[in-house]
Amino acid sequence: MGMHYYMAPLEAITTYTYRQAHAKVYGPLDKYFIPFLETHEKRDFKTRELQEILPEHNEGIYVVPQILTNKADGFIRLGKALKDYGYQEINLNLGCPSKTVVTKGKGSGFLAFPEELDCFLDNIFEALGSELKLSVKTRIGKEKPEEFPRLLEIFNRYPLEELIIHPRVQTDGYKNYPRMEMYDLAAKESKNPICYNGDLFNQEKLEKFQKERPDTDCLMIGRGFLMNPGLLHPETGRKEFWEFHDLVYHGYLERDLGGYRNVLFKMKELWLYQVKLFPEVKGLEKKIKKLQTQQEYEQLMGKLQTVS
Ligand SMILES: Cc1cc2nc3c(=O)[nH]c(=O)nc-3n(C[C@H](O)[C@H](O)[C@H](O)COP(=O)(O)O)c2cc1C
Repeated sequence: MGMHYYMAPLEAITTYTYRQAHAKVYGPLDKYFIPFLETHEKRDFKTRELQEILPEHNEGIYVVPQILTNKADGFIRLGKALKDYGYQEINLNLGCPSKTVVTKGKGSGFLAFPEELDCFLDNIFEALGSELKLSVKTRIGKEKPEEFPRLLEIFNRYPLEELIIHPRVQTDGYKNYPRMEMYDLAAKESKNPICYNGDLFNQEKLEKFQKERPDTDCLMIGRGFLMNPGLLHPETGRKEFWEFHDLVYHGYLERDLGGYRNVLFKMKELWLYQVKLFPEVKGLEKKIKKLQTQQEYEQLMGKLQTVS
């Protein structure tokens, strides 16, 4: 059985433009997760969300839309709308640690209400279980890792397509370290297939993980791809990186993002991670932060392309 690799959903970062560029240069991966969709009162999708799910924007790759809600009826409605767009699989977000989300009892905030979560899962499986594959992406608790065994018991009651585990609690944010003992518990006790997610930032970390946990056959990677889109392809180098970069950049230029400022904003966000690929360029992060115009951006990129 081969390894399966997934691209994690990163809100506003792993856009369809990013996913397509990545698949073209380095892929395709087994699955690409679309950053979370929310429910709205008057319509199923906001324009930006619709752009992400349109089949013509996801051609040739297997994508899984993700929903962030704690209301079963909203999840069911969106699930049906997604099915109408041709999707066979959708994912529930139980991981988002952001305060505004958590205070509404959504994302990893939902983990503090195990009974409600059980009821929610019961409802969505009842309504959608026969027509859609349902998976969950979860943290291991709201405050303490000790919450996880009970949550796992609940997940075990449902035929999940898979359970993707980021073994931090909400209050960790992205600090501290993944609590591997809770991932190992899931590996032992989960009735559903599991997938590991968290801090696989470079080849050494990937190799160490795979050596220590040879039974895990599914890995989801987020920031590792941002820092090095060629993470799974050590045979690639700067040439492929620039090919990838140009696809993303030109993709954004061609989209209607409401002006160059927004293109620049998106590229700067990516460069917060991508600077790691250019350790020999002193002060790169600062230089990128200061960029204001298209000319400045393209000049700096031109220079960077000649350093290697
Ligand atoms: C900027 C940012 C945006 C994210 N957006 C989402 C999201 O929309 N849905 C989700 O389930 N997780 C989201 N995550 C969490 C990632 O999918 C992933 O679980 C996390 O980054 C840990 O994996 P990694 O260490 O491989 O990056 C986000 C994380 C970051 C840093």
